[in-house]
Amino acid sequence: MTIKKVGVLGCGLMGSGIAQVAASAGFETVVREVSDDLIQRGFAGVEKSLAKFAEKGAITGEQQQEIHGRLSGTTTFEALADCDIIIEAIIENLEEKRKTYAELDRICKPETIFASNTSSISITEMMTATSPERQKRFIGMHFFNPVPLMKLVEVIRTILTDETIYEEAIEFGKQLGKTTVRTSDKTGFIVNRLLVPYMLDAIRALEEGVGSITDIDTAMKLGLGYPMGPFTLGDFVGLDTTYYIAEIMFNEFREKRFAPPPLLKRMVLAGLYGRKSGRGFYDYSTDPKNPTPMNLV
Ligand code: 3HC
Repeated sequence: MTIKKVGVLGCGLMGSGIAQVAASAGFETVVREVSDDLIQRGFAGVEKSLAKFAEKGAITGEQQQEIHGRLSGTTTFEALADCDIIIEAIIENLEEKRKTYAELDRICKPETIFASNTSSISITEMMTATSPERQKRFIGMHFFNPVPLMKLVEVIRTILTDETIYEEAIEFGKQLGKTTVRTSDKTGFIVNRLLVPYMLDAIRALEEGVGSITDIDTAMKLGLGYPMGPFTLGDFVGLDTTYYIAEIMFNEFREKRFAPPPLLKRMVLAGLYGRKSGRGFYDYSTDPKNPTPMNLV
């Protein structure tokens, strides 16, 4: 099967980014959200991102219009019925995802491939909400934030994924302009398996007085050439999200390296989620471009 029409579930940060990348790669793309308001909000982000690319000359004004023309929003599942692949990027809640997949399984054509962008929920546990035939066509495609800029997609297979479908998904990832890596359904896949313990260890180092927030960030940025230090990255990803992923990984592996440190838990309890709430390891409220480190320990 050749993928022509792409469905995206969820028009948040990840969903809108995935939709943008699919439409930019030439695919007819439909995004489903629960309300028109959320679609408009997501599409405003796409607009902003495309404008940046146009400003830099990476795309022409004409291409910008063509991308818009390939992108549409819907609040129904029925509009996704004839999609060749559906990439799900809704809330990280297993029950919500299972409910959505069960409904889509009834509506979509038998050939539709289901792909989840989950960062940590078991693909297998979502897959079992669908029929045995669909289970062969069920994979993970994990994108990275900001999706239009980050080059990687992890393509995840379960023990039931059909070999041909998996190869099609790898090919599709390449058609999106991304570099794909192959991985299996083990919580965290490759990137979060290695990233999450690193971020948690940075918090433990802070708790133990190894260095300040800015010194640890600067050390990792300049010492290793990382684009962001661990605290800047944590604030960027969202500390609530980081905590949630760590909890799932700890429950799966029962290893201390995945256990969220007390400081992270308390920050999340106190509403310090990072950039999105205005405060995390840094305070973004005065000058978001030059945030000041918080006094946390
Ligand atoms: N679309 C188009 N252009 C964008 C953009 C977007 N969405 N976001 C940023 N840009 C542009 C900016 O306008 C800027 O353009 P300019 O050079 O012309 O001014 C350029 O990209 C660089 O952006 P900034 O100047 O704001 O900042 P940086 O140079 O630091 O780059 C970054 C931003 C690409 C986000 C870089 O800091 C980076 O790579 N950070 C690490 C991101 C990362 O690790 N992401 C993965 C998180 S983990 C994850 O997603 C998995 C999940 O499961 C947890």
